[in-house]
Amino acid sequence: MGTLFLIFLLSLAIHSPPSSSTSDSLSRGSSLSVEKPEDVLFSADGVFTAGFHQVGNNSFCFAIWFTEPSISDHYRNRTVVWMANRDQPVNGKRSKLSLQKTGNLILTDAGQSIVWATTTTSPSPAHLSLQNSGNLILLHSGSVVLWQSFDSPTDTLLPLQPFTRKATLISTRSQSNFSSGFYKLFFNNDNLLRLLFDGLEISSVYWPDPSRVSWDNERSTYNNSRNAMLDSLGSFISSDNLTFLSADYGAEWQRRLRIDFDGNVRLYSRENSGEKWVVSWQAISDSCMIHGICGANSVCSYDPGFGRKCSCLPGYQIRNHIDWSFGCEPQFNLSYTKVNESSFLKLSQVSSLVTIIAPTKIAAMESARAYAWTCITAGGSNTHLTVEVVYIHATRRRSYEVVADRIYKDTCI
Ligand SMILES: *[C@@H]1O[C@H](CO)[C@@H](O)[C@H](O)[C@H]1NC(C)=O
Ligand SMILES: *[C@@H]1O[C@H](CO)[C@@H](O)[C@H](O)[C@H]1NC(C)=O
Ligand SMILES: *[C@@H]1O[C@H](CO)[C@@H](O)[C@H](O)[C@H]1NC(C)=O
Ligand SMILES: *[C@@H]1O[C@H](CO)[C@@H](O)[C@H](O)[C@H]1NC(C)=O
Ligand SMILES: *[C@@H]1O[C@H](CO)[C@@H](O)[C@H](O)[C@H]1NC(C)=O
Ligand SMILES: *[C@@H]1O[C@H](CO)[C@@H](O)[C@H](O)[C@H]1NC(C)=O
Ligand SMILES: *[C@@H]1O[C@H](CO)[C@@H](O)[C@H](O)[C@H]1NC(C)=O
Repeated sequence: MGTLFLIFLLSLAIHSPPSSSTSDSLSRGSSLSVEKPEDVLFSADGVFTAGFHQVGNNSFCFAIWFTEPSISDHYRNRTVVWMANRDQPVNGKRSKLSLQKTGNLILTDAGQSIVWATTTTSPSPAHLSLQNSGNLILLHSGSVVLWQSFDSPTDTLLPLQPFTRKATLISTRSQSNFSSGFYKLFFNNDNLLRLLFDGLEISSVYWPDPSRVSWDNERSTYNNSRNAMLDSLGSFISSDNLTFLSADYGAEWQRRLRIDFDGNVRLYSRENSGEKWVVSWQAISDSCMIHGICGANSVCSYDPGFGRKCSCLPGYQIRNHIDWSFGCEPQFNLSYTKVNESSFLKLSQVSSLVTIIAPTKIAAMESARAYAWTCITAGGSNTHLTVEVVYIHATRRRSYEVVADRIYKDTCI
C-alpha cells in the first residue's frame, strides 16, 4: 500500500505541469496565441492540457488533450479529446483564442476573422479554466457556468461527462485528419443509442445490429430520458438499458470513450500519462458490420485472428491506397452501352456485407448480401461487372424474407 502511494505521488510529480509561463486559467481581456507553444491551460492535476494543436503543415485547432510527459510531448503523440474548430483550422501565425471583456470566448484566424465563438455574454468578469475532468469551463461570479466543452463533445466522451439527447459524437475523417468524418453516435428518436454511417451517398444505422430487434439487443425504447454516462471506474450506463463494464473495471485510471475514425466505439484506458492506451471495451467485434468501412464497390471480410480485410469487387480497383473509405472504381468503361447480347457468369457469393454505390445508389443496404456477376458481352474481351443484391429483411420472428434484385441484368451495363 505504501509503495502504491509512493508511486502515486511520483506520478503526480512527473505529470504536474511545468511551472514556466503557463497558467491554469484565462481571465477576461487575455488571450492564448498560436505562435507560443507555452500558451496552454493545464488542469490543476496536470492530466489535461488545452491549447493550439497542430493538424496540418500550417494549420491548428484549439483542442484539449491528455498531457504527455515532456519526453514524448510531440503533437503527433497527443490524445486529443475535444476540438473547437475541427472543420475550420486556423493559420499558424497570428491566430488567437481570446476571452473578450464582454464574456465571449472567440477564436480568430490570422486575418482576424472569427472562426469559432461561445457567443456568451457575462454580467460580471468571466474566467476560463480547465477542470480535472477535462472540461473546459467558462464561469462568471466564481461558479455560474456560461459555457463548457462537455456540452459539445467532438468524438470523445470522458468519465463523468453527461451524454445527452442534444449531443452527437462524430468520428474524425481519418487517423490523421481531424475533420468531421462519416460515423455518428447519438440517441435516436426511438430512445436508443445508435451508430450511424452518414456517408456521401448513403446513410444507414449499423448498431445495434439492425437485423435484430431492439429487445434482442437488451435495449429498451421505453425510457425517453436519453442520457448516458461513463464513470471513472469504467462503468457505462445508458437510459436505453445499454450497460457495460470496462475490462479493467474498478481502477481509477485514465479513460476515454471514442467513436473512432473506423466507425467503432471503443473505451480506452491506461494507468498513467505517457503509457499506451489499451482497448477495454468495444461496441462491435466483427468490424465488417460497420457500414461504409471499405467504401463503395468493395468487400469486407473479417477473420477474428487477423481482423478486417477490404478488397475490391472483381472488375474494380482501389481508389486511394491509404484510405479505404474512398472505395473502388470500375476498371471498365461505364459509358459502354452498346450491348445487344449478354450472358452472366455468377462468381462466388460475397458473403460479407458489401456497400455498393456505383453505378447506382442502393437504398436499404442494412442487410444486403451481394453476389458478384461478370457480364460477358458479345463484343468480347471486356469483362463487365454487375451485382446481384439480395435484401434480407428481418421480421420480428427472425425469419427472413429474401428479395433478389439484379441490377443491370437486363442491360448488362
Ligand atoms: C507538408 O510539408 C511537407 C514538407 O514541407 C510536404 O512534403 C507535404 O506535402 C506538406 N503537406 C501538405 C498536406 O501540404
Ligand atoms: C512519441 O513518444 C515517444 C516516447 O514515448 C518518442 O520516442 C517519440 O519520438 C514520440 N513521437 C514523436 C513524433 O515525437
Ligand atoms: C481532411 O478531410 C477533409 C474532408 O474530406 C478535407 O476537405 C481536408 O482537406 C482534409 N485535410 C487534410 C489536411 O488532409
Ligand atoms: C435491461 O437489461 C437486463 C439485462 O442486462 C434485462 O434483464 C432487463 O430486462 C432489461 N430491461 C429492459 C427494460 O429491457
Ligand atoms: C430512465 O433512465 C434514467 C437515467 O438512466 C433513470 O434515472 C431512470 O430511472 C429511468 N427511468 C425508468 C422509468 O426506468
Ligand atoms: C468509354 O466509351 C466511350 C463510348 O464508347 C468512349 O467515347 C470513351 O472514350 C471511353 N472512355 C474510356 C476511358 O475508355
Ligand atoms: C448486335 O448488334 C450488331 C450491330 O450493332 C449487329 O450487327 C448484330 O447482328 C447484333 N447481334 C444480335 C445477336 O442481335
